[in-house]
Amino acid sequence: MKVGAWSENKHVALSRYIDSARMARAKWPYASFIDLFSGPGRVMNRDSKTISDGGVLAAWRISEKGGAPFNEIYIGDADAGSVEACATRLRSAGANVRACVGTASVTVDWVLDALPKGLHFAFLDPFNIEHLDFEIIRKLSARPNIDILIHFSVMDVQRNIDGDFNLASSRLDAAAPGWRNNLRLDAVPKHELVGAYLKYWETLVTDLTKMQVAQSKPLFVNMNKGPLYRLIHLARHPLATKLWNDAAIPTSRQQSLPGF
Ligand SMILES: C[S@@+](CC[C@H](N)C(=O)[O-])C[C@H]1O[C@@H](n2cnc3c(N)ncnc32)[C@H](O)[C@@H]1O
Repeated sequence: MKVGAWSENKHVALSRYIDSARMARAKWPYASFIDLFSGPGRVMNRDSKTISDGGVLAAWRISEKGGAPFNEIYIGDADAGSVEACATRLRSAGANVRACVGTASVTVDWVLDALPKGLHFAFLDPFNIEHLDFEIIRKLSARPNIDILIHFSVMDVQRNIDGDFNLASSRLDAAAPGWRNNLRLDAVPKHELVGAYLKYWETLVTDLTKMQVAQSKPLFVNMNKGPLYRLIHLARHPLATKLWNDAAIPTSRQQSLPGF
């Protein structure tokens, strides 16, 4: 999969977190990693042409290296070729893999039906906000010992929020149901629209799942400093939140862009 340089930082943040959580993981007889948007498990920087592990491969390798490997890795993707390639790569690297082709809204039920008791981590890494169906988060959150790391596409929200506000249906509805009835966007300055949507989404998450949104929400930007996405961590256990806050990419001026 061809990606921009910013994708590497995402994998760095993910790997740092997985590594920092190894002691917590080691206390459990079973730990899973769930990736419902797995991709093929390998990425190529479209500028430098450097090839590196995709998120789930990087996470598996660091968990093994740290001595607390995931007992099972659940992967899903809408693209059958990606699932097959990713499963093959993970198995070659020594992981126990369960794989399913389908959209995340469907494969989430398959995962939850199969998942034993244990400590779980889910990585939700869609290309755009449209695929970040709130139901996926709500269903995963029903597990008591789970934390979730979410790729939240601020670029997508920024592009669509203004135009979609008065449409009968919007690409932003699935991620944050009810946003148009609950947000008074006419009273919000343009540069704060995305922030208002994100705040509403966070309220939904905390009210409906009783999970905490971690304070550290690193913002990744493109070459022109245009905002792309934030990584948002949800957990119930304060230790998981602390580990993410410490492991996330260090605070940089990227996070101080106004309105995001
Ligand atoms: C950002 S890429 C994933 C990258 C991968 N997580 C990594 O770190 O290398 C998003 C993936 O989602 C898949 N996809 C698109 N729509 C989907 C959906 N509704 N459900 C599940 N997967 C979807 C695409 O085929 C693509 O592989």
